[in-house]
Amino acid sequence: MCGITGCVSTQDCVPLMIESLGRLAYRGYDSAGVAVCDAGGIKLRREHGKLENLMALLARQPLSGRTGIGHTRWATHGRPSESNAHPQTYKKIAIVHNGIIENFMPLRAELEAGGHVFSSETDTEIVAHLISDAYETCADFSKAVRIALARVRGSYAIVAICADCPDELVAARLQSPLLVGLGNNMNFATSDISAVLPYTRRFIFLEDGDFVRMTHDAVSLFDAQGKIITREAKTIEWDIRAAEKQGYPHYMLKEIFEQPAKITDTFRGRILSESAEVNLDAPVNALELENVSRIQIVACGTSYHAGLLGKYMIEKMARLPVDVDVASEYRYRDPILKPDDGFIAISQSGETADTYACVKMARAAGAKILAICNVMDSSIARASDAAFYTRADPEIGVASTKAFTTQVASLALLAIHLGRKRNFLDAERARTCLEALRRVPSEMEVMLEQSDDVRKTAQKLLRANSFLYLGRNVHYPIALEGALKLKEITYIHAEAYPSGEMKHGPIALIDDRLPVIVIAPKNSTYEKTLSNLQEVRARGGRIISIVSEGDEDLSKLSEAYFTIPNCDEFVQPLYSVIYLQLLAYHIADLLGHDVDHPRNLAKSVTVE
Ligand code: G6P
Repeated sequence: MCGITGCVSTQDCVPLMIESLGRLAYRGYDSAGVAVCDAGGIKLRREHGKLENLMALLARQPLSGRTGIGHTRWATHGRPSESNAHPQTYKKIAIVHNGIIENFMPLRAELEAGGHVFSSETDTEIVAHLISDAYETCADFSKAVRIALARVRGSYAIVAICADCPDELVAARLQSPLLVGLGNNMNFATSDISAVLPYTRRFIFLEDGDFVRMTHDAVSLFDAQGKIITREAKTIEWDIRAAEKQGYPHYMLKEIFEQPAKITDTFRGRILSESAEVNLDAPVNALELENVSRIQIVACGTSYHAGLLGKYMIEKMARLPVDVDVASEYRYRDPILKPDDGFIAISQSGETADTYACVKMARAAGAKILAICNVMDSSIARASDAAFYTRADPEIGVASTKAFTTQVASLALLAIHLGRKRNFLDAERARTCLEALRRVPSEMEVMLEQSDDVRKTAQKLLRANSFLYLGRNVHYPIALEGALKLKEITYIHAEAYPSGEMKHGPIALIDDRLPVIVIAPKNSTYEKTLSNLQEVRARGGRIISIVSEGDEDLSKLSEAYFTIPNCDEFVQPLYSVIYLQLLAYHIADLLGHDVDHPRNLAKSVTVE
């Protein structure tokens, strides 16, 4: 969703801000803009559409200044257009905003009644007007921002500049991520670590209700009353190259190929082969989730599919009941959560608004909260009792891949850990499971070599206008994930069903135009899935299957098939999902879609 960058420096900050907007583009956007303070006041450039449009405008109408703000907008209030793009300005004030101002209608009506004229349909513009009014009264820029935001309900990350204070940025956060980057003779306010990672690794993670005033060499934080507060700066270890394409045509393909390395990183130091134990990080161990009476998992999108696999794994290995919910459903259905329950929030970004809201509910209920996140010190990680980090490095492709497999790998470690602690998993079985996990990265490397074969199959499927994905047991969440990947980046309809449910509806869809993607490696439900597939075949359905090496029965029924290593059922999803990621990627690429920036989607959904 929307991305924010703000910079106060001793040099022209516009080139740096444009570069940084490029690093924010992955979040999803439909317009972009920058504003600077210079001797003549606030100067603004905005364009509808791609960042290239803004760059072309800047080439025609150059801009420079030592203090500036920039934004990539994903429309919520007001259609995508130049006038609705950010920064929004009023008189001496310009602001960029992520989030939603919930009471913007009455505020706008009030301002209009007072003679204010608006130039956009956005909720954001009212904040610029409110700051401007407050500034005219108090003549103190940072105080004016505080006065204005006290009137606002909703969520925001806001960065503002003022024509009278050309060497100053003022920023504030409430339920929308915002960080301060501490550079050398320059400081930043940004929604995203990777936006300014080439310039600094030192960040202050703002908390809800924080305000910050910064110049190129000083940063001061204060609360809503203007009282000075302190927050510790943290150093981010991410490798900046992780946010580059490194020769791949798309981030998504690069990230698919990175999975063996990132799973290795996720395992590092956490598998104790000698004792057949899992060494979770100290705060996670200290949570003692093995003593809870049940676990509630909450997540959105791809992370939700990882959560579904978590249920299979934790229930099987640790015999601990697990419920899994989509966060946007959970938060509004008056769920039952008790202090002796465990609560796991899974989120790549750690900023998804609905998941974050559920964590706050779990906190109010007194449950033990574990976050499984990729982004260190993200809002969800900080709001939880402990965070388990997936170590996938920045994920830029909107369609999640390496975040998913590292989440599944993390949940597998957690399941084994809980199984050992609860004495349901003996050392021998734990050792076998851990060995199976350890083999995943190298076996996955071999599978990835089949990417060209997957592309050849993709080529034959380009005319399909709907796909059915079938899987059973641990492969049902993988079927869901495969269908989601396809929808996200190819815009082709896809539906996932548990194979055993086929006779209850989807079988009516089957004809010789419907590709049926079947995930059926050899496991406890293999025979049953095979019967389901005979039924598909008997109706002329096109079967593309993912099978265990050496499975001739299923491969004979299939128009195309891809093999995964013969392995324990619980690691099979880590393999089978790879082909589904590749299939979606190659179909999207062959159809000419912008794989890394699928239409309407955002990487991080920070509003409801
Ligand atoms: C968006 C992204 C998905 C992601 C989901 C949850 O929909 O496009 O890739 O799975 O949000 O995000 P999270 O950061 O909470 O895992």
